[in-house]
Amino acid sequence: MRNTVNSALFGCCLLLAPAQAFEVQPRIVGGCESATSAHPWMVALATKLASNNGTYEWTNSFCGATLVNERWVMTAAHCLSYMSSSVEVDFAPADLEVYIGTTRLDSGQGAHYAISEIHKHPNYNNPALFSNDIALLKLAETVPEAAARLATVKPGNDLLALTAGWGKLEDVIVTQENVSALLPRDLREVSVSILDNSLCPFNLTDSQICAGFLAGGKDSCQGDSGGPLMLKSQGQDTLVGIVSFGDGCAQENSPGVYTSVAAYRDWIAQTTTDPSTGISDLPAPVAISENYAHFSACGATPVTTSVPEPTKVISTGGGGSAGLILFTIALLGLNRRQPALLPKANSKKA
Ligand code: ARG
Repeated sequence: MRNTVNSALFGCCLLLAPAQAFEVQPRIVGGCESATSAHPWMVALATKLASNNGTYEWTNSFCGATLVNERWVMTAAHCLSYMSSSVEVDFAPADLEVYIGTTRLDSGQGAHYAISEIHKHPNYNNPALFSNDIALLKLAETVPEAAARLATVKPGNDLLALTAGWGKLEDVIVTQENVSALLPRDLREVSVSILDNSLCPFNLTDSQICAGFLAGGKDSCQGDSGGPLMLKSQGQDTLVGIVSFGDGCAQENSPGVYTSVAAYRDWIAQTTTDPSTGISDLPAPVAISENYAHFSACGATPVTTSVPEPTKVISTGGGGSAGLILFTIALLGLNRRQPALLPKANSKKA
């Protein structure tokens, strides 16, 4: 199994991308290094398939995720499958683990937790590629770190939200030669502006959030998928989005796309309900409006402006955007997954 996965990973990427020279930027696509313990809810999702005597923790991590209560982690659905000989294969819970309680992906750092259940949204990739890109992972044991709260309402535009991860420092294809410099071992973060969906070069639905800067320069990137888009709400770290896809990273006029957590309140409540007791670990929040505030990266002077949100009803599930075109999943070196599609602009997305 391990060999199959590795050859799928390297087969695609090294052939397509022979070693190339690149300059390492001092920041992850315009971001900065997270303070140790700043984000207790930050989770690294890692494969055990490629591990070698437990010494490869740094490169085993391939997606981010967020702790949403003591037993549940939220991530992107597209993080939960991989391509093997051109066939998409779902990870089993035993193939994966999560690292929690560390900003540094090194042997011996953070606690490793087993996953007992994987719940991808049933309509992931339907009707369009990356539709409903959300998943919940149940952990085999409880976690002591503080969880993030879940957004109840899609945030308004122009708020600065924080995204974080161990993804690529710049938009360059990972090779064996550049991997050390391209993928950080220490967690990085950046604030991105929540933008109107029409500013993203894709047909987005209300279940997705467009965030970044039209000028480019600051963005999440491959390897950050599944990780958080966070705002403050009543002073609490609140998960409003999940890193989903973009066209390259940090390019001009091409902000990133995030799954809007508020659109999935009902699915979250159902998925986390114990069928035997009917009790949900994560009940659907009843609030239909909330006051969000900016979440600045790296301890920058906190911006305290609170933006009142209009009262509105958010429906569960996504849907409705224009057609699915071509779908491939390519793993970009060392388990970094790169779903790609060729939509209206015929450009690559991941
Ligand atoms: N799909 C990518 C991943 O699997 C995340 C890409 C985010 N891209 C962006 N430009 N914000 O890691």
